[in-house]
Amino acid sequence: MTLSTVFTEMFGVRHPIASAPMGGSAGGALAAAVSRGGGFGILGGAYGDPEWLAREVPIVAATGGPWGVGFLTWGIDLAAVELALSHGPSAVMLSFGDPSPYTERVREAGARLILQVTDLEEARQAVDLGADVIVAQGTESGGHGAAHGRSTLPFVPAVVDLVAPVPVLAAGGIADGRGVAAALVLGAAGALIGTRFQATVEALADPSITRAIVEGRGQDTERSNLLDVARGSGWPSKYPARTLGHPYLDRWRGREAELAADPQALQDYQDDVARGAITPLPVWAGEAVDLITDLPPAEDLITAMAAQAEEALNRAGRR
Ligand SMILES: Cc1cc2nc3c(=O)[nH]c(=O)nc-3n(C[C@H](O)[C@H](O)[C@H](O)COP(=O)(O)O)c2cc1C
Repeated sequence: MTLSTVFTEMFGVRHPIASAPMGGSAGGALAAAVSRGGGFGILGGAYGDPEWLAREVPIVAATGGPWGVGFLTWGIDLAAVELALSHGPSAVMLSFGDPSPYTERVREAGARLILQVTDLEEARQAVDLGADVIVAQGTESGGHGAAHGRSTLPFVPAVVDLVAPVPVLAAGGIADGRGVAAALVLGAAGALIGTRFQATVEALADPSITRAIVEGRGQDTERSNLLDVARGSGWPSKYPARTLGHPYLDRWRGREAELAADPQALQDYQDDVARGAITPLPVWAGEAVDLITDLPPAEDLITAMAAQAEEALNRAGRR
């Protein structure tokens, strides 16, 4: 049995699994490995840095398979989208912000449009904008998301019902085949997975970060703006990020405005990064981080997750 869905048919992939466009760390090697494994690899184009794209796109394009590129909608302009489209992706994914200035251009260029949503209003807008695939992100997810997000388990079927027949990918708290199976049972056409792919051979992540993910526990994750303030990232405060515990969270929790106004504390953060006292970036991680205990090649991971999902579906409800 293979798990065939509207999503696998749309992109001609073997498994209903996409790797998330994790800004900077989901490079060409990761997307290519996901593709080789039969999933759908999405580059983490973040703010559309032309040099990064010029380096990473050819690596995944060389596979000859389908691939996508994702952007942070609040941080890009049309030039970034045009640049990505010039490389011929199968899909452009937009998250966090108003995608309407870009959607027409993506569709005109013949790429599929994937929109990530965090509430029902965004889901409705995604349908109006002609999304080909809608990613329903639950608050368990690693990295940035809604300040008052919904849990994946009830949010995904609510989005599935609202946007039908547009296919939905479930995102947030999925890190193995059981989670993929659950997504399908909820009516999703597949799963979009981030944190699990950070801990793979191909992710462009500092070893201190992958180590923290392998050792981390879901109960130690927290959604907060604080580390974005500390590192002066410019992220809109309506999208706090889920990370593992961090010394600056303990030191400044609840005092974000005070931190933002304290130049010495902001300098201390940079100094702590420079001397290796804290990880170079926050460890963005979702609640399913407990399930991540190794650092496999992404191709093997996809194959194993797909097999586990099939097995989980076959065994569900049987003694
Ligand atoms: C390290 C990391 C970086 C991320 N960067 C982005 C990004 O640049 N753009 C984006 O759309 N989503 C980003 N996300 C969120 C993912 O798209 C997705 O919603 C999330 O990873 C799903 O939850 P999971 O981490 O539990 O699998 C990121 C997630 C992580 C863990």
